Amino acid sequence: MLFYKIGSDNKICHPLLLLLAYQENLFITEVYIMNKIQSFDDYLSQYEQSKANLVKYWESIASNLEWFKKWDSAHSGDFTTTSVTWFDGAETNLSYNCLDRHLETRGEKTALIYVHNDPKKAPEHISYIQLHQRVSQFANMLKNHGVEKGDRVCFYMGMTPELMIGVLACARIGAVHSVVFGGFSAKALADRINDCEAKVLITNDWGLRGDKLIPLKNVADEALESCPSISSVIVQKSAPENVMMKDGRDYWFETENQKASTDCPAETQQSEDPLFILYTSGSTGKPKGLLHTTGGYMTYAYHTFRNVFQVEENDVYWCTADIGWITGHTYITYGPLLNGATTVMFEGVPTWPDAGRFWQIVDQLKVTHFYTAPTAIRALEAKGLDYVTPYSLESLKVLGSVGEPINEEAWEWYHKNIGKEKCPIVDTWWQTETGGIMISPLAGITETKPCYATYPLPGIFPVLMDAEGKEIVQPKAEGNLCIKHPWPGIARTIYADHNRYKETYFSTYPGYYFTGDGAKREESGMIRITGRVDDVINVSGHRIGTAEVEDAINTHEHVVESAVIGYNHPIKGQGIFAFIIPTSMDSIQENFHQELNTVVTKMIGSIAKPEKIKVVSGLPKTRSGKIMRRILRKVAEGDLANLGDTSTLLNPEIVEELIKD
Ligand code: PRX
Repeated sequence: MLFYKIGSDNKICHPLLLLLAYQENLFITEVYIMNKIQSFDDYLSQYEQSKANLVKYWESIASNLEWFKKWDSAHSGDFTTTSVTWFDGAETNLSYNCLDRHLETRGEKTALIYVHNDPKKAPEHISYIQLHQRVSQFANMLKNHGVEKGDRVCFYMGMTPELMIGVLACARIGAVHSVVFGGFSAKALADRINDCEAKVLITNDWGLRGDKLIPLKNVADEALESCPSISSVIVQKSAPENVMMKDGRDYWFETENQKASTDCPAETQQSEDPLFILYTSGSTGKPKGLLHTTGGYMTYAYHTFRNVFQVEENDVYWCTADIGWITGHTYITYGPLLNGATTVMFEGVPTWPDAGRFWQIVDQLKVTHFYTAPTAIRALEAKGLDYVTPYSLESLKVLGSVGEPINEEAWEWYHKNIGKEKCPIVDTWWQTETGGIMISPLAGITETKPCYATYPLPGIFPVLMDAEGKEIVQPKAEGNLCIKHPWPGIARTIYADHNRYKETYFSTYPGYYFTGDGAKREESGMIRITGRVDDVINVSGHRIGTAEVEDAINTHEHVVESAVIGYNHPIKGQGIFAFIIPTSMDSIQENFHQELNTVVTKMIGSIAKPEKIKVVSGLPKTRSGKIMRRILRKVAEGDLANLGDTSTLLNPEIVEELIKD
């Protein structure tokens, strides 16, 4: 039998709709359309429904979106097989869902407000109709440069509207976007382009950040010396200064775009067709290219945005991230546009022309929802209230935090001085791998508590594991955070390396997805994320693998070996501390630290520079030759009284030297 049920009250819908569904060949026995969560009771009820029938729950969420053809199988796979699908056999298009779907009802509504780095330039308001047109034109330009469905397109740009437009253009024609943060070095960019064999690179001549000009095209040129897969480079102009353009390879965006038509119907995509690759650091090896696919990611971005932020039709939502990171993918671009919201994109930095820039923009645009990282909050707090009090901030309704644990002091400052004690703070825990928010308060619905990400979203089943690798059943506990069942937004693989995907996420606790984070759980079920338990450092909300930094440092001619660890940093959350064994003590010059910074900046980017270094003659090692990082962590934090047992070290005598000033 075929019948549609709408809402949590399960009312059977109009017979005409049934007929329509029948004609459309939708042979589905039941489809619930799950409403936006309205209250905490509603949250609990949806959570229970998701527990009772997880697949049906996700089907009901997906049914809010536009599918050209319904799925044959809503879900397959688990964390044992590690091959997961959602809505398999369905056809859709993400750019269609973000843009075309809204044209009739919200065509004139502002989709994107673009705020220039230069505060004297007026913000640009781009409607859904205009965004649709610009995305279509960009998509045709990509096609003119030979981009076809499945091809990889790399973006190495400043925060210009074309970055968002280009990403949506890829989604429109089924090309796979891979955005590389504009702060990465030529080597890091080349590694990422080569790993996914991108065909086209989109970049800017310069990136504008505060009073700095970032030489994006120069860095790209250096990278391209070793990137044979790139056939065209499209350069969008941002500054009057000249850059080198290579004949037959480099093209100005402005000229190429004008040649393209604005008519580009959305390609039909299979639900499991690749959507994007985004590189992120892990505890070992080179950065991993996490691959997200179309239908599941779309459903998850849509669902999490609307429930966590509770944005209403006339609200103005601003996420301050860069599109080079997952937060910019899901919560500047896809999540807001899937929900027909107005999203703000900012080119500049929070401290230029002064530390009041964020708050000036909030007042100017009447921003209602503001989502940023704890590092930015701490940095602005340190500048003092003189930069806050000139602004009313009265438009704000909801505040958000993402990317790293937020400390209580920063939480209170944000709550009191920015939210005026009336705006709920959603402390959203998630990862590049998860595609969207997993554990978070729902704005205005969940009672918040400083430092707590609170409860999982419906459809998400987090568990804590003990030292023996067993699930901890008692409510109040601390352990390693795993997730029990696949959700639609999970990355499906590491590009071209599924074995690494299996090994990284599913081998520590077989049958579970291991997040790499530790967490505490209260009796009530409330969760507090305590930070990474692996060799990943979180500097200003940016994930950096210790191995990557060590590899970079070790390329210095006077370095024999190094060990990099994270230590508590008052603004950045964590800073990088490098212990270094030199070829000889005599080889160390006064500017050694500076030289190491240069090497790291060249190999990775300036975000990975070690804040502190210590030159030593040896590193504490276990008898099997592994560096005992626990001891280095204590040394870096000055916690010398708690070094623990050092007698099992291969070289216990080294501890004396490590703790010497
Ligand atoms: O350690 C957690 C931390 O950031 C890691 C994920 O980093 P990335 O993939 O770059 O994604 C950042 C944006 C989602 C996590 O493993 N993290 C993220 N959000 C929080 C957090 N730690 C504590 N609280 C959070 N709200």
